[in-house]
Amino acid sequence: MSKNLLITGGAGFIGSHLVQLLVEKYKSYKIINLDCLTYAGNLENLKAVEGASNYFFEKVNLLDVAELERVFDEHNITDVIHLAAESHVDRSISDPLAFVNTNVIGTVNLLNVAKSKWTDLDKHLFYHVSTDEVYGSLDDGGFFTEETPYDPQSPYSASKAASDHFVRAYTNTYGLKTVITNCSNNYGPNQFPEKLIPLCIHNIRNNKPLPVYGKGENIRDWLYVVDHARAIDLIFHEGKVGETYNIGGFNEWKNIDIVKLLCKKMDEKLNRPTGTSEKLITYVKDRAGHDLRYAIDANKIKNELGWEPSLQFEEGISKTIDWYLENETWLNNVTSGNYQKYYSEHYQDR
Ligand code: NAD
Ligand code: TYD
Repeated sequence: MSKNLLITGGAGFIGSHLVQLLVEKYKSYKIINLDCLTYAGNLENLKAVEGASNYFFEKVNLLDVAELERVFDEHNITDVIHLAAESHVDRSISDPLAFVNTNVIGTVNLLNVAKSKWTDLDKHLFYHVSTDEVYGSLDDGGFFTEETPYDPQSPYSASKAASDHFVRAYTNTYGLKTVITNCSNNYGPNQFPEKLIPLCIHNIRNNKPLPVYGKGENIRDWLYVVDHARAIDLIFHEGKVGETYNIGGFNEWKNIDIVKLLCKKMDEKLNRPTGTSEKLITYVKDRAGHDLRYAIDANKIKNELGWEPSLQFEEGISKTIDWYLENETWLNNVTSGNYQKYYSEHYQDR
């Protein structure tokens, strides 16, 4: 069945991979990318699909309800996959309110518009993309399952947890059909170089210090971004309505081990003597309230839907480094701020 699918945050890291996957795979769908293009939204991420006849871009802020209503009306939106968010923990520590505005109020705005525009709620799906960080920190072993109680510790995870609760409340109270997925840390092309992996790749190439928070012993569970996009596609089409699915690749790494792996691989790729880049590692003051460990139990999505990651970590990291090395202009544009001009140069006159 054809759909007019609204994807929010499609100019961001994960959203851009999802938009590209869906535009190319579902030619009969209209894919509408709604994004207000914050510092993290980059239309250069979507060059591959910008001329596609089933792809549409709407520069709209989730806080602008009238504009959300217009987009629903103009495109006759049938379904939503909601990714737009403020996504960086360090930024949430310095400016929590920005996270409340976009992640909580923005999500509630979108829920309200969906609820009011969809007269037959049975025919529509609201898919909310969330994070494993809502479960808190695993300090004593074990994994996050779909039953783990919420225990968010950072302003970012608190705002995402609040948005998840609102999505569930709209199902319980109004009968909106929803699905929520909670995914582990993603890595891959198009990620803004403020997050650990692209930041280190960028700094290694430029011989700049690699800031490792605390002792570097915090653990994250890493998934290649395209595998996350594949999982969203599968759950959107085949997941059980009203359910939550955790998405992860059983791939835990201490931060310091990741940084060392990046140094080793980049010394090889840049023909530098072994050990050159490790000298850039600089231990810095720890992040406030730094969660020790995240680890996803991804058995539900595997057993119920047959999803598994397609890429092993070392292969994914190698591909990611190659992408950043080959896309120097992309990196230079985002670090200089030039990418913000892409919209006015390529879209505004359409
Ligand atoms: P990102 O920061 O790269 O992209 C976010 C996008 O949302 C940007 O394009 C930005 O312009 C847009 N946006 C922000 N505020 C907006 C607003 N008020 N109105 C309209 N658009 C707005 O984020 P990401 O890493 O791609 O994450 C996408 C989603 O996935 C988020 O909901 C995040 O919580 C979730 N998630 C991320 C990870 C990860 O490792 N990055 C892991 C699990 C879940
Ligand atoms: P990040 O990529 O910001 O993702 P998240 O905080 O959502 O997990 O950080 C990943 C881990 O790397 C986290 O434990 C914090 C740490 N980190 C550093 O040690 N140095 C850095 O410069 C950054 C950005 C993160």
